[in-house]
Amino acid sequence: MHRIIVVVVLLWRSRVTADPQTTLLNAGCSQYNASGNAAFVATLNETLADLRSSLSSAAAGTSAASFATAQRPRAADPVYALFQCRAYLSSADCLACLSVAEARIRRCGNANGARVIYDGCVLRYESSTFFDQTTLPGNAGVCNGSAASDAGFSEAAKALVRDLTSATPRVSGFFAAAERDGVFAVAQCVETVNEEGCAQCLTVADANIESCPPDTDGRSVDAGCFMRYSSKSFFPANQTVDLSQFLSSGKSNKKGAIIGGVVGGICGLLLLAIVALLWIKRSRRRQGFRTGDLLGATELQGPLNFHYKDLKAATNNFSEENKLGEGGFGDVYKGTLKNGKTVAVKRLAIAQISRAKADFQSEVKLISNVHHRNLVRLLGCSSKGQDLLLVYEYMANSSLNKFIFGDRQGFLNWKQRFNIIVGMARGLAYLHQEFHVCIIHRDIKSSNILLDDDFQPRIADFGLARLLPEDQSHLSTKFAGTLGYTAPEYAIHGQLSEKVDTYSFGVVVLEIISGRKSNDAQLEPVIQYLLEWAWKLYESGDSIDLVDRSLDPTEYSPEEMKRIVKIALLCTQSTVSARPTMSEVVVLLLSEGDHDRLQPTRPTFIDATSRVRGDGSTSTGSSSTSNATVSASQFSAR
Ligand SMILES: *[C@@H]1O[C@H](CO)[C@@H](O)[C@H](O)[C@H]1NC(C)=O
Ligand SMILES: *[C@@H]1O[C@H](CO)[C@@H](O)[C@H](O)[C@H]1NC(C)=O
Ligand SMILES: *[C@@H]1O[C@H](CO)[C@@H](O)[C@H](O)[C@H]1NC(C)=O
Ligand SMILES: *[C@@H]1O[C@H](CO)[C@@H](O)[C@H](O)[C@H]1NC(C)=O
Repeated sequence: MHRIIVVVVLLWRSRVTADPQTTLLNAGCSQYNASGNAAFVATLNETLADLRSSLSSAAAGTSAASFATAQRPRAADPVYALFQCRAYLSSADCLACLSVAEARIRRCGNANGARVIYDGCVLRYESSTFFDQTTLPGNAGVCNGSAASDAGFSEAAKALVRDLTSATPRVSGFFAAAERDGVFAVAQCVETVNEEGCAQCLTVADANIESCPPDTDGRSVDAGCFMRYSSKSFFPANQTVDLSQFLSSGKSNKKGAIIGGVVGGICGLLLLAIVALLWIKRSRRRQGFRTGDLLGATELQGPLNFHYKDLKAATNNFSEENKLGEGGFGDVYKGTLKNGKTVAVKRLAIAQISRAKADFQSEVKLISNVHHRNLVRLLGCSSKGQDLLLVYEYMANSSLNKFIFGDRQGFLNWKQRFNIIVGMARGLAYLHQEFHVCIIHRDIKSSNILLDDDFQPRIADFGLARLLPEDQSHLSTKFAGTLGYTAPEYAIHGQLSEKVDTYSFGVVVLEIISGRKSNDAQLEPVIQYLLEWAWKLYESGDSIDLVDRSLDPTEYSPEEMKRIVKIALLCTQSTVSARPTMSEVVVLLLSEGDHDRLQPTRPTFIDATSRVRGDGSTSTGSSSTSNATVSASQFSAR
């Protein structure tokens, strides 16, 4: 298979283009498959076609065609793709490299992420965005065998690579090529990182490639950058830039030397030890030409095991200032890891439960395998110290409740709110039906919906209820389920099904529409809860009165709003089997039209003391759908 492709490429190359430089440096497929096979391939095809067309149109214009991203974030299996050519390639070579990369990446079948890196270009796609990634575990140097005969080559190569490391982040387009003392070298960052990220990535790349000399060829691959040197020219001579204008003056070097002298006297031994360790590590890494799953694409990593003391340091010893919130499962702290990455660290409050610890590792492994753009990613854990700690990606925009009835009430417009509703539904549909284990969240509420930089929802805390002993989870609303959001059959009888999440989802949708808390009884003249109020308005045909006053009425149509209220009420029906599954909810949300054949039936109302009120206790007895009313006794009969 491999041989055939190479032959085809060579023939084609000699005829059509100069040299697309398709020596393979690194490739990998995600171990997870996208859920919808044919639909996913179609989405991938479209995304790759987008990359090609934006490169072609750039090539037709004046700008150089060397970088493109494309995405299909709204697809059932989202695809985010990035392609970059080395900037010295001609447009024709660049497109040729894309063709080769595309053919190679398709070997990953319906894997939900993949990457392939050549000398000439890099192509990668994932199921969530990665465009700002700089350096990832798996970054590596790729050295090739033949040693240079020239004694000065090693020093010259290292010096040039070092200068490119400093200069390239300051060059517009993050690309620089240079030739000096018989060494040819380039450095390049993806254009979607910032200067600081580029510098960070190239510093790692520099360290990786430094072990290559005296080899005549060295490359360094990583998520956000690329570096290469060679004893032979591999780019057109007119591509080189004068690096001196981008290098800082000798001042800092001098300062470095002074500090080095002082520090060197004190901890020379320590430094020696570190250098020795690095050397051992590098020479181990120097296994010549390697391809394979090295780059640690997001989908390729399992959960990381963190050291307790590192997390303690990252969160400033779990200080109050670092506390982001308190949840049913424990407090959450903002942490800054040594590599500068910001994370959220959850300290689980259930360590006492003996079962929890025994299952912790396997559950964490399961949860960390859940990848969906509407679910908060679990990055790793620590279970060695006195606490069980979970490390999550950090969401800058905090949680949904702050935006619908907290400090920033009224901030979100209708389009953003609708996107949040759809995203939540997609995340839950994934947990229930698409992931290979059905995960029931059990505690969906607006404070568990986090918002990313784009105000896309990310569901937090899923899978944690699985750490609780089976038969106890429903007994404490503190652990699983929160008053006002919990389906009555679960709150009262512990009957668990994925429709428990459908119910809570419906309640959150009503909160998003109304800007009211589900468990706040102080609504309007009579004491009633949100769900009850919403039902009454729906029955009287006035559901539009539910809408948050802070929403601009020109942003939504009354029909659309009524349709969404109706979907929310379908989700909160008393009869469990009458509630739609979450994937049905996604379809309902996205299909316009009235859904006339679907008529919600009355919900069961639970008040603050967890008493179930049947149909008799509300003032709206005249419902045409009251035949479907379910009272508490029907639940206990099941
Ligand atoms: C993904 O799909 C391929 C076939 O397309 C199959 O061989 C592989 O086992 C699947 N992987 C998983 C994790 O389901
Ligand atoms: C996707 O593209 C590949 C290669 O061009 C083609 O073989 C395949 O039929 C396409 N699939 C779909 C679903 O469009
Ligand atoms: C190493 O690089 C040189 C120069 O580009 C090339 O001629 C040689 O074939 C390469 N060797 C291997 C093993 O790739
Ligand atoms: C470099 O030279 C090639 C021809 O060898 C030419 O096509 C190209 O436009 C030149 N590029 C620049 C930036 O001058």
